[in-house]
Amino acid sequence: MSDQLETLLSEKRRFPTTVEFAARSAATAALYTAGNDWQRFWEDQAKTLEWISPWTQVLDWKPPHAKWFVGGTLNASVNCLDRHLRGPRRNKAALVWEGEPGDRRVLTYWDLARKVGRCANALKRLGVRRGDRVAIYLPMIPEAAIAMLACARMGAVHSVVFGGFSADSLRDRINDAGAVALITADGGYRRGQVQPLKRMADAALADTPSIKHCLVVRRVGDEAGAQMAPGRDHWWHELLERETPACPAEAMDAEDLLFILYTSGTTGKPKGIVHTTGGYLTHVTSTSRHVFDLEDEDVFWCTADVGWVTGHSYVVYGPLANGATVFMYEGAPDWPERDRFWQLIETYGVTIFYTAPTAIRAFMKWGTELPERRDLSTLRLLGTVGEPINPEAWIWYHTHIGKGRCPIVDTWWQTETGGIMITPLPAVVVTKPGSATIPYPGITPELVDGKGEKLAAGGGFLTIAQPWPGMLRTIYGDDDRYREIYWSRFPGRYFTGDGAKLDEDGYWWILGRVDDVLNVAGHRIGTMEVESALVDHPAVAEAAVVGRAHDLKGQALAAFVTLKEGRQASPSLKDELKAHVTVKIGAIARPDDIFFSADLPKTRSGKIMRRLLKDIAEGRALGDTTTLADPAVVNRLKDMYESQEA
Ligand code: PRX
Repeated sequence: MSDQLETLLSEKRRFPTTVEFAARSAATAALYTAGNDWQRFWEDQAKTLEWISPWTQVLDWKPPHAKWFVGGTLNASVNCLDRHLRGPRRNKAALVWEGEPGDRRVLTYWDLARKVGRCANALKRLGVRRGDRVAIYLPMIPEAAIAMLACARMGAVHSVVFGGFSADSLRDRINDAGAVALITADGGYRRGQVQPLKRMADAALADTPSIKHCLVVRRVGDEAGAQMAPGRDHWWHELLERETPACPAEAMDAEDLLFILYTSGTTGKPKGIVHTTGGYLTHVTSTSRHVFDLEDEDVFWCTADVGWVTGHSYVVYGPLANGATVFMYEGAPDWPERDRFWQLIETYGVTIFYTAPTAIRAFMKWGTELPERRDLSTLRLLGTVGEPINPEAWIWYHTHIGKGRCPIVDTWWQTETGGIMITPLPAVVVTKPGSATIPYPGITPELVDGKGEKLAAGGGFLTIAQPWPGMLRTIYGDDDRYREIYWSRFPGRYFTGDGAKLDEDGYWWILGRVDDVLNVAGHRIGTMEVESALVDHPAVAEAAVVGRAHDLKGQALAAFVTLKEGRQASPSLKDELKAHVTVKIGAIARPDDIFFSADLPKTRSGKIMRRLLKDIAEGRALGDTTTLADPAVVNRLKDMYESQEA
């Protein structure tokens, strides 16, 4: 067991709920009671949405395929916009945004609805039809939310690609989904630099036969150097100006696709996770409301980029369906100063702040003076997501950001689950630093051993026993893979890929991935993807990538590389390989260490033993080496690794 894990599991501190939240404890307790009848619970949650026609059946479950709210029709954008226009929220701020250079925009629900309508009309005029896929490759600007909601309004399926992904990654995602249109921007700002998104998009579009049109938001201007291809490329503002703001919303079946979102798995190719309309919206609306105790007066800030599922569920759909005020920020936390986040919380009066442990660990390193010089008194609730939070970071967050007043919700979930699954509800659950605590009402996680036997407590694999509305429906274009990845290891159960511990109080402690998926700074990265990118370089014969524990990022990427005959290892080749991975995937997958080696440790059947490479990268004694074809290889490698700086 690593030191980190040992500290996590020996945590004994307890944090009861605060007086402010205790007032809502009866209502929250009732929610848990209601959750015991899980189908009824979700049906009640679905009733909080506006439906065009009602469902005839709550759940049709033919494992592993679920249909929720069968026969019901609705539109996600109506739920996020139109229904708020009929009452006092009409002129309420829906999106409050600040760009990295400090520019500001506020869009009321009325403004947002009109922009969404114009964008939906523009898409229709370009020939995009209901059911078509539209790729979105944008910085964190309001147009990202507008584009998503516009697709939802006219029935197109969006596939948002994180703006930090490379042209190659964008191209692959567009082609897998067969997207007919791309919405991008000339550029965006990151740490004072212009990210030339359109130029990246152009490189992708050279090889995406399905794309007919590209809409380009002018975010930066001339400095971005965007070139427009006549006929294919259109300026967003020119097109939207010509449209009327009213666009009738399509009546979507509850099971019609709302979006596809690509995520990393154990193979070299990211998979398109499919989410549908009714169940997903029910799940994220319910969890936004109850996990974050979202009220009309709140200013809710989830720091995730809309390119990730957290941004989909808790920047766009969940909070807007609740009529909340969402704060959105374009840039990095340390630009121009390391107190940018605290400055933003002070300026906009943020009340609920939801971020990742990796960010909290960076804030800790930067010191307490930065948050201390800002007024954070508006904050009333804090959240974390994306990776296990070490108790030390939890306590720091609680003390220095929450000033001991704000409950922390540590929320466990995945791209595949659509919404939050394991989390405290702030009014009643006593929190333990490092534990995501207990299931959300209506969610049934179960711990199993390697044979799939249910365990009452202890360590094992995290599975989900019953379907839930926000669950993925399939992998786009590959239902066999869906069955295999999630439903074959433990038949009848959804397998999360995470290891976990269930303690004597029924609290969950997530221990991290048990497959070949790494979690680097809260980003999910498949080892195989990075390996494929490395072997794509002409100098590389073979590559094995492992995660090693890292103080700030949770995990760092360590790559072991064997070179082709005649190629020389050198520091410049290391840099070249790192740059190559950045071009193939994106900066988030850039290896932290590259280590050249003549051989890699393999079993007799030729399988690389990554477990041993991880031992080496983390400086631990080697585990069992008896199955190796040549045990000398790994010992040699360990000696070399220790004598050389990677
Ligand atoms: O390993 C778990 C970790 O992140 C994985 C899911 O990653 P992704 O699909 O990118 O979604 C991240 C945001 C929802 C999980 O399998 N993870 C997520 N939240 C937590 C977590 N690990 C521990 N504690 C969490 N709160």
